Amino acid sequence: MSATPLEVPRKITPPLLLAKKSRHEKIVCLTANDYPVARILDGADLDLLLVGDSLGMTRLGYDSTLPVTLHELLIHLKAARRAVTRALLVADMPFGSYQVDTKTALENALVLVKEGGAEAVKLEGGHRYVRRIEHLVAAGIPVMGHIGLLPQSVRVMGGYKVQGRTSESAEALLRDALALQRAGAFAVVLEGIAAEVAREITEALEIPTIGIGAGVHCNGQILVTEDLLGLGFTRKPRFARQYLNLNQLISNAVRQFKEDCAAESFPSAEESYHTNNAPDSMTTEKQHADR
Ligand code: KIV
Repeated sequence: MSATPLEVPRKITPPLLLAKKSRHEKIVCLTANDYPVARILDGADLDLLLVGDSLGMTRLGYDSTLPVTLHELLIHLKAARRAVTRALLVADMPFGSYQVDTKTALENALVLVKEGGAEAVKLEGGHRYVRRIEHLVAAGIPVMGHIGLLPQSVRVMGGYKVQGRTSESAEALLRDALALQRAGAFAVVLEGIAAEVAREITEALEIPTIGIGAGVHCNGQILVTEDLLGLGFTRKPRFARQYLNLNQLISNAVRQFKEDCAAESFPSAEESYHTNNAPDSMTTEKQHADR
């Protein structure tokens, strides 16, 4: 028997995120839209993984998040669900799935939870959505708020514009954040908000703030994984630090494959199957495994 007990990674829940805020521990989050990426990210012990509607742009080639349907989000959510065991798995409510009325919002949130396996949902907007959030929370669905730059309201906002630069806008954001907290949200995403204002909101709230383009003082940070990995063709915002150039790495690998095919160095003898009487040099363990 092993002397050291197995370390069981702790499942992240909304109360644990609250506890992290009180311990001044940063909450680290990323988007995760498919099985392999979600599995790698979960294995890296992130706190929260979001199946975000940004997948419309990063994965589906739309030019905004507006066309994403509940069905499309559900497919990605189910793939991530099969991969994630530790992080809190949150699903975005796509545009149109919660705006109509409280009843539809609840029905659609229930689909994400029951069919998709989401442990919480996120929706964009401040005080206008208080009733909806109260309803979802009363039904047992944890809700993450999202204020500031709201990609689903890009047409109303007249573009992807940083919020909270004036004192009126900063005060409105603070009021929205407090309203979301009163409504029962367990956390709030602050997107594209002046860092000073994000700090003020973070200090005023008991629930954690998760920043994206909102400076360093938020309780946690979230990025779109494709931005961090340098994968894809969407415009990278200035706050999105790129840690890898996956576009380049994939392109290099594929060009190398093309060269190897042309030079007939692919497939090698070991990468081929052979008859039983082929010379020994060709029969490797790989071949015996018959894969
Ligand atoms: O959809 C998404 O990726 C998001 C993050 C930007 C927070 O909502």
